[in-house]
Amino acid sequence: MGKSTKPIVVSGIRSTGHLHLGNYLGALRNFVAMQETYQCYFFIADLHSLTTHPTPDHLQDSVRDILAEYLAAGLDIEQCALYVQSDIQETIELYLYLNMNAYLGELERCTSFKEKVRQNPNNVNAGLLTYPTLMAADILIHRADLVPVGKDQEQHLEMARTFAERFNRLYQTDLFTSPQAYQSDKPLVKIPGLDGNGKMGKSEGNAIYLADTPDQIRKKVMKAVSDIGPSTIGQPKSEPVQNLFTIMEQVSSHDTLAHFEDLYNRCEIRYGDMKKQLAEDLVTFLAPLREKIEMYRNDERYLRDVARIGAEKAHVSATETLKRVREIVGIRSLF
Ligand code: TRP
Repeated sequence: MGKSTKPIVVSGIRSTGHLHLGNYLGALRNFVAMQETYQCYFFIADLHSLTTHPTPDHLQDSVRDILAEYLAAGLDIEQCALYVQSDIQETIELYLYLNMNAYLGELERCTSFKEKVRQNPNNVNAGLLTYPTLMAADILIHRADLVPVGKDQEQHLEMARTFAERFNRLYQTDLFTSPQAYQSDKPLVKIPGLDGNGKMGKSEGNAIYLADTPDQIRKKVMKAVSDIGPSTIGQPKSEPVQNLFTIMEQVSSHDTLAHFEDLYNRCEIRYGDMKKQLAEDLVTFLAPLREKIEMYRNDERYLRDVARIGAEKAHVSATETLKRVREIVGIRSLF
């Protein structure tokens, strides 16, 4: 990608398991909308996924899965740079420089780190501690202006700003811009899971995956948590039931939604019927995506070309940034 005056956007998704409906509606659809307006770099964060020690085969498979899912969702390799994080080795070197000015205290205070320590006290590795520095390197290597991320990543983005500003101050340079969270004009949709509380997550076991078969979708929806039903007119919805309506709002027609709202309000709703309808609407909604995912996933040659083209594009700005960082820091080869 040559010089351009469009604001630069960077975002990544970790390669831990398939993408789900929440990823699609909450993030991917936004990425697709941004490709035209901004100079976009979207990548698969395979290095970040190493903190949990996946097997090599599993790691490889996940990268291909997510690449196919990105493409199926509508990312266009002509418009954006779509690449795999580990193909841009400049990021790894920048990560090292940034780590020299990332302090133990601030890394330890990071909410996601504390959470991981709590969940997995036997695997508190340095990669986990420096997860935010690697993420900052992903962003700063392209000197991004905007980063579309969810609420759970805002603290990491804030740390990226801290590292960028600290570097600039320390070396008296204006090399790095301060990356800001991208706010879409449409409110962000938060897709809840099927287990009654919280949002849809890869590790929560409550997700509908873009690659799920119609039968898998039906089974999951029919098992979704609801409640015993409203007993008085106008009773507010419980969280699990509201969640079903929220998903329905995304994938079903207005009429369908209004129909079940009405039944709920009259205390005549049968959740079994609602789930059946929701399952069919989800199947219809996801069918074209699933078809495309399969097509891309089975074309390993094409996936390889996509990754190569993406890496070539991402390299242009990564090489330029790293060259300047090395000069600024004073890393120069003697020969
Ligand atoms: N940490 C992000 C997540 O878990 C993924 C990520 C890695 C990322 N590097 C990034 C997101 C750079 C935005 C920009 O979702």
